Amino acid sequence: MCGIVGYIGARDATPIILNGLKRLEYRGYDSAGLAVLQNGKIEIRRDAGKLSHLIELVAQSPLSGTVGIGHTRWATHGEPSARNAHPHIGHTGRVVVVHNGIVENFLELREELAAEGVTFNSDTDTETIVHLVEHYQATGLDLTEAARRTFKQLRGANVVVLLSADEPDKIVTARIGNAGGVVIGYGEGEMFAASDIPAILEHTRKVTFLESRQMAIVTREGARLETLDGEPVEAKIHTIPWDPVAAEKGEYRHFMHKEIHEQARSLADTLAGRVDFQNGKIRLPELNLTPELANRIQKIYITACGTAAYAGMVGKYLIEKIARIPVEVEIGSEFRYRDPIIDENTVVLAISQSGETADTLAAMEEGRRKGAVLWSIVNAIGSQAMRIADGYISMQTGPEIGVASTKAFTAPLVDQYMLAILLADLRGTLDEKTRRQLVSDLRLVPDLAGRVLNTEPEIEKVAWALKDIRNCLYLGRGINMPIAYEGALKLKEISYIHAEGYPAGEMKHGPIALIDETMPVVALVTKDPWYEKMISQLQQAKARGGTVIAVATEGDDLVPTMADHVLWVPETPWLLGPVINVIPLQILAYHIAAIRGLDVDQPRNLAKSVTVE
Ligand code: G6P
Repeated sequence: MCGIVGYIGARDATPIILNGLKRLEYRGYDSAGLAVLQNGKIEIRRDAGKLSHLIELVAQSPLSGTVGIGHTRWATHGEPSARNAHPHIGHTGRVVVVHNGIVENFLELREELAAEGVTFNSDTDTETIVHLVEHYQATGLDLTEAARRTFKQLRGANVVVLLSADEPDKIVTARIGNAGGVVIGYGEGEMFAASDIPAILEHTRKVTFLESRQMAIVTREGARLETLDGEPVEAKIHTIPWDPVAAEKGEYRHFMHKEIHEQARSLADTLAGRVDFQNGKIRLPELNLTPELANRIQKIYITACGTAAYAGMVGKYLIEKIARIPVEVEIGSEFRYRDPIIDENTVVLAISQSGETADTLAAMEEGRRKGAVLWSIVNAIGSQAMRIADGYISMQTGPEIGVASTKAFTAPLVDQYMLAILLADLRGTLDEKTRRQLVSDLRLVPDLAGRVLNTEPEIEKVAWALKDIRNCLYLGRGINMPIAYEGALKLKEISYIHAEGYPAGEMKHGPIALIDETMPVVALVTKDPWYEKMISQLQQAKARGGTVIAVATEGDDLVPTMADHVLWVPETPWLLGPVINVIPLQILAYHIAAIRGLDVDQPRNLAKSVTVE
């Protein structure tokens, strides 16, 4: 997601904002801008391109003022350009806004505003926010109330920071859906609002975080926190430690926990720059996928290790279903020993968080040797798997420190979904309506992830109930079968509990013999095309006395009658189900391991990147 820095104090806001944005550069962006209140007027500098370019713009045409907001943007609605760069100012010239996230109902809001005669200067969803604020101000509301009304109308995972020349003593910010965070920093006679801690760390270590559906009115003296319904909220102030590792962990005890929680945001980042919601199109420029290549591909081998291989299994499903190209998944350590059948119309697609896993690289080399087109989906920028590929998709999730992979599992699921749509589009095998629907469904993902993350307290209770188990069976079908594998892998990696993932339909061919009261069964029984089959498998497990933990879709009243514990997930378009369904399993594994007092981030015998065969 984009970076945000806001400042209100006594110092010159411009260098503080520009430095803050610099600290967020690592997140990636394609445009940058800032707005400062100067002599009672809002002044904006913004453009496509890097921060260094914005700094030049500011040098040519300086800004000065003690209140301002800045932004680095990754395009979702409209190309990277000056007119689409943030901040966005309203028609009165008195309100300005920066925004992270996706306004899911933006087309609706835009139509309503257009019907009132509002014209738009950009293609962004963000611009609707500033016009809505002005719309409410015109009815006589002050900035805070106009902002509150606006925030309540926005659907999806969104963070907004805005200011008005008419009320120059405040910045208003909100975390609306289940978006990535807003951090508010407390200084002496000055305050900060940012999307990430590093943006403000050089100025203050006293911070508070907004929860979902909270807003803050930030003045030079402090911040007043409220829910979007106007209930006062007491700010819990944290002091960020000086130790850089601890500082990076922020409010979390372990990196894995932090990385699980980053997923609402990392999934928004995954979409950034790739999805054109207006036209229902996908852009993956680094893949170098031409229509000619798309049309001659006859087969795709996905190769990867560990968690990444399970991501590939979901990818097989997505690519075969959406693009109708045959896909085989082979783990990296086996690929080169099976003499795979490859020619120049074959793609070898490697998935790797580190981009340095020896077995995955060896599989890529085998593909190269046999003349395949080599692609990779990689998190670590500049790694070998990225460099040696003919084309790549960068995961855009930021560094992952915890050995057990979490956010680098969900990102490639979305990457492969986008890849499948792009392939189908270029091959002409997807009708426009379906393509637009598939693309449009992507906008839901960050908020759905955030909603699951909010259920953590219930999942933690289940973890307490399971903390002493010795074995666990995970069952799933269809596109959720790999999620059963991944759920089991997470548990065994960090809690050292023996766990097995199994295709649920295979249970009767063996594993059912294992089920008794000492063998809990985790079943993925969400509303997808295999729902009814899973229900009958759940009954079989229950009949044999096993404790059943079901991942189920909110509103389902059948599953709770058969399960001892339910981990709820919101209703999700089923092709994107795995992205959401794995999150409760990550949280469950995390808490079981944490309750057992284990070294979650560095489990015994495991390494983050395995560079030997
Ligand atoms: C190691 C890690 C796993 C990871 C696998 C593949 O075994 O412990 O968590 O899934 O390597 O890593 P990669 O960097 O290629 O995704």
